[in-house]
Amino acid sequence: MIFQNTLEFAQSLDGQDAISKYRNEFIFPQHDKKDVIYFTGNSLGLQPKSAKKYVDEVMDDWANLAVEGHFYADKPWWDYHERFATPLGKIVGALPTEVTVMNTLTVNLHLLMVSFYRPTKKRFKIICEEKAFPSDQYMFQSQVDFHSRSLDFDKNDAIIELKRREGEHNIRLEDVLAKINEVGEELALVLIGGVNYYTGQIFDIKTITAAGQKQGAIVGWDLAHAAGNVKLELHAWNVDFASWCSYKYMNSGPGNASGCFIHEKHHNDAQLPRFAGWWGHNKERRFKMEQNFDPVHGADGWQISNLPILSLAPYLASVMMFDEVGMDKIIAKRNLITSYLEFILNEINREVNGNFEIITPKNQAERGCQLSVFFHGEGGN
Ligand SMILES: Cc1ncc(COP(=O)(O)O)c(C=O)c1O
Repeated sequence: MIFQNTLEFAQSLDGQDAISKYRNEFIFPQHDKKDVIYFTGNSLGLQPKSAKKYVDEVMDDWANLAVEGHFYADKPWWDYHERFATPLGKIVGALPTEVTVMNTLTVNLHLLMVSFYRPTKKRFKIICEEKAFPSDQYMFQSQVDFHSRSLDFDKNDAIIELKRREGEHNIRLEDVLAKINEVGEELALVLIGGVNYYTGQIFDIKTITAAGQKQGAIVGWDLAHAAGNVKLELHAWNVDFASWCSYKYMNSGPGNASGCFIHEKHHNDAQLPRFAGWWGHNKERRFKMEQNFDPVHGADGWQISNLPILSLAPYLASVMMFDEVGMDKIIAKRNLITSYLEFILNEINREVNGNFEIITPKNQAERGCQLSVFFHGEGGN
């Protein structure tokens, strides 16, 4: 399509937009009595209008039923989270039993590392990307520190960052694969952000997962910037585990619950350690208050506490909207408006003599809806 930088052209694109009505399903902050143009859904998504209805429903059930709401609310609280399994599974390309919602992202990644980062004196290294989100960096450091105390490996040698080449902004797939092969038998875990939070680069999850596993490592993904943004096929790509927050592209509200994926091939592995709590215990026997932990089959077996229903309510409102629209239509629109924005930014850049640079990959297959702009010169970045 040949773009034009005019209001009429932008409005004509809106006119052809098959999912334009969903814009009205969100509340936009106002500036000068007009909706702002919101570019920060990669940090915090807008509030869906339906979120309040879902939250009010829980508030009303709590008022009218009190503790009975666990079992007699319209959407009973004791299995409220199960409503996410099918629609969330579709968003990330997983079987319903492979996804669950619980806790928050860094907490979940720590819990998943309990199960999936099991270093030995020989195989203890973690590959992650350079400039990983700081919370992930602190997580790696503290996990390595924790294990190195009992295993006697050098913690300064354990975290391997994938580097960009000099003068380049994105990490090349060939360099990722070469590093995985180089670390080889010492590699315990590959854990990378599926979409880099800073550059917006999508990593080739399928190829990297296969390469890590070929070396005998576990491969997991931080999908904070990927879930609800890019096409994911976590089951088919044989990903071991993944987790994401819901407050960015999934518009669930500030600091809200996280989603987890655990591949079904791990569900029956009794050798996998996990930190347990009563909400991961056999559903039929949970209220018998018995002693020995018997995990629910599937990702729900990694749950620990009973769930914060008031938080899950707006997340569910948003997930139901995703389910109605479907990722394919979201991705088609994402590609169009991101390319259009790129075109306009490039026009502006010509007027300011190339004073800035879009560092996100140009290739649509390697990016979602984020464009990161690097400003040159004093005070840039
Ligand atoms: C890539 C990535 N990982 C981890 C986090 C941390 O998320 P949380 O504070 O929900 O644990 C974020 C938050 O923005 C993120 O973008």
